[in-house]
Amino acid sequence: MTDVTHVKDTRGRRLRDLRISVTDRCNLRCNYCMPADVFGPDYPFLPRKEILDHEEIARIARVFASLGVTKLRLTGGEPLLRRDLDQLITMLRGIPGIEDIALTTNGLLLPAFARKLKDAGLDRVTVSLDSLDDAVFGRMNGKGVGTAPVLKGIDSAIQAGLTPLKLNMVVKRGENDTEIEAMARRWRGTGIIVRFIEFMDVGTKNGWRMDDVVPAREIVQRINARWPLESADPNYQGEVASRWRYKDGQGEIGVISSVTNTFCGDCTRARLSARGELYTCLFAAKGHDIKTPLRAGATDYELQTLVENVWKRRDDRYSEIRNESTVGLPKAEMSYLGG
Ligand code: GTP
Ligand code: 5AD
Ligand code: SF4
Ligand code: SF4
Repeated sequence: MTDVTHVKDTRGRRLRDLRISVTDRCNLRCNYCMPADVFGPDYPFLPRKEILDHEEIARIARVFASLGVTKLRLTGGEPLLRRDLDQLITMLRGIPGIEDIALTTNGLLLPAFARKLKDAGLDRVTVSLDSLDDAVFGRMNGKGVGTAPVLKGIDSAIQAGLTPLKLNMVVKRGENDTEIEAMARRWRGTGIIVRFIEFMDVGTKNGWRMDDVVPAREIVQRINARWPLESADPNYQGEVASRWRYKDGQGEIGVISSVTNTFCGDCTRARLSARGELYTCLFAAKGHDIKTPLRAGATDYELQTLVENVWKRRDDRYSEIRNESTVGLPKAEMSYLGG
């Protein structure tokens, strides 16, 4: 793109990634994200008209690209629940400056959609999988869903070429930490990269306690004890996961230590909620409304100025200042603002 303005926040951080939540709904109820007792049958999900349509999302993404964004990630909720997602991807693919389009999914609908999404221009997917044990997985996903449909989804994604494929495993002490080694063993040597994620205090509804967090250091030590690891350089500045390579050449894992070893200093991520608000931190309580000016007829230039001004004032570094009193502060739910 010829006329990109590289905007920086108050801490000198650029804007490079836009994570777009395309729906606040999900067909699972992972206890760390959308606990079933809170997100029950009467939960007030967003009505259709409140949610940005494809054209609106694409227009906003174009504005972000003009401010330096090169990477898009579609999230939710579960993004594959959105109708005609492939059409949105086609539109996003056409935006000058966008180099990478990824999607985070629970994998259940990948057998139906992987090929279509690839053909539309999606580059790769990250699939959430917290355990290989049906009982453990079923308990954590709140719906009793076993691992088989997710494994089938992973296969479909590989077949369709949505690679490099990554797996996200949120580790909770006493729930699935006994599964760490099994996950490492299962995916070593397959080309699939497992990322072990510290359970975070996103939102206010997942009952987060520090006692439930398994520090990334411990995860690395446990895997290293079985299959020796060496640390690898980041693929790009500001990469969320720290990379570790198996010394025997069987690939790599990642650990995401948002609690015990924070990475706000390099955070170049903005989030667009399904309702059209810009969040400048995963732990923010409120977003900045973009939908209202957009629907009121703002020009691209006006939208660009709006986003630029929000980013220029950005000072977020929640993970760095997290303490006992911040945990209970109001925060938007992850399923709403995008993970
Ligand atoms: P790649 O593009 O493949 O490097 O993936 P990514 O680094 O964008 O990772 P992904 O989107 O899969 O994020 C994995 C997990 O890391 C998310 O589900 C969150 O749990 C966590 N995460 C991602 N971004 C942030 C962030 O900005 N802050 C914090 N605290 N956690 C994040
Ligand atoms: N802690 C850490 N990661 C979380 N995710 C959702 N909730 C949490 C949490 N409380 C991440 C998972 C999942 C993605 C959609 O969001 O990695 O794969
Ligand atoms: Fe749904 Fe993903 Fe949240 Fe699980 S982590 S409830 S699959 S959005
Ligand atoms: Fe970025 Fe906020 Fe996560 Fe820090 S806590 S890395 S500022 S999203």
